[in-house]
Amino acid sequence: MSLLRFLTGITTSGTPHLGNYVGSIRPSVQASLRADVESFYFLADYHALIKIDEPARVQRSTLEIAASWLAAGLNPERVTFYRQSDIPEIPELTWLLTCVTGKGLLNRAHAYKASVDKNTAAGQDPDADVTAGLFMYPVLMGADILMFNAHKVPVGRDQVQHIEMARDMGNSFNHRYGQHFVLPEAVIDDAVALLPGVDGRKMSKSYDNHIPMFAPREQLRKSIAGIVTDSRAPGAPKDTEGSALFQIYQAFASAEETAALRQAYADGIAWGDAKQILFERIDREIAPMREAYLGYINHPEKVEAILLAGAAKARAISQPLMTQLRHAVGLRKLSEQGETKAAKLTKVARPAFKQYRESDGQFYFKLIDASGHLLLQSQGFASPKEAATSMAQLRSEGVTAWCARHSGWLMPGSTADAAQAALQPLNDA
Ligand code: TRP
Repeated sequence: MSLLRFLTGITTSGTPHLGNYVGSIRPSVQASLRADVESFYFLADYHALIKIDEPARVQRSTLEIAASWLAAGLNPERVTFYRQSDIPEIPELTWLLTCVTGKGLLNRAHAYKASVDKNTAAGQDPDADVTAGLFMYPVLMGADILMFNAHKVPVGRDQVQHIEMARDMGNSFNHRYGQHFVLPEAVIDDAVALLPGVDGRKMSKSYDNHIPMFAPREQLRKSIAGIVTDSRAPGAPKDTEGSALFQIYQAFASAEETAALRQAYADGIAWGDAKQILFERIDREIAPMREAYLGYINHPEKVEAILLAGAAKARAISQPLMTQLRHAVGLRKLSEQGETKAAKLTKVARPAFKQYRESDGQFYFKLIDASGHLLLQSQGFASPKEAATSMAQLRSEGVTAWCARHSGWLMPGSTADAAQAALQPLNDA
């Protein structure tokens, strides 16, 4: 069984709100528990710089979002959990992708187009106050995704276009330089993708209509009291259709609880009572996480250590891939032959293990098949001896068990069966 790779990021530009929780944090924690899924979650702090020029706010938001994810139950042992700016290969890949991305594609990005339309409507220069960062946003996001060869990217509906652009970029690159990238797909949970804010529009930092995820209880109550409703009096039947209050409730409640509130609407529940029900329901879910959250917020050094360990795990993948990509595009040592690595490896008539040391000082090995395709890749080990032990385990336990222990990864396009088949002649030898 080959593992499905899920990847998603949150821009570190604000305090996490219930929209982030329902749309991203909660489903990603749930997905990370699936046995067939390998998850990559990260704090998109390079993306934050596009919108924010207050250093302290970027730093604070990074801490708050990391703490929220951890408090919501993300297990950093199981998930590769990291900060985007700890992975220098991401900006490096951004440049390689920039060079295969049509400017016209970026012109069509919704976020950029919205700025241009606004300027045009105001009679200003179309690009007034538009940074090149905003324009390049989708390429940086493409690099985030392609760097780890993610299959599935859980996002809100507003981000789907970016995933399609990442596919385009991966495709253009593969077309020019050979198969290096998996083409990712967006995953949208329709039930929860767009949580409305207190004004009924999508809950968003930029609309200032959000409910903070870890507000103290009383503040949570106040935020919920601020949800806009119509002016129907107590006793008058209410519409669930278009009711932000109802939609938010639905994102937290079970099917039975939702049905009960639907009935209460029909029976003419007073808005104040409906808000109380919503408040209690949300608080029931969030309250147990608050303590853990504050524990992390008050000990940023703990979060820092977790993120650095995550970055080391992530770079065990991004560094070797970047080496491969640099070679593919011609950024090579002058003494190296012009032929591609893949072509060179084709001369190896048998599958083989390759052991090597990366610039991070750790020891790695990988398995290639007879025609030089990379099948799997180990994690980094502190010593050659540990790498050798893991290699022996791979041989004796088999690919599936070895991968399940997070000793390494199947490469995109490869399957456990293919890797197992390649091991056979090595075991026989
Ligand atoms: N742009 C996303 C947002 O604001 C955050 C993000 C950055 C992201 N890189 C990503 C999401 C890669 C998924 C995959 O919501």
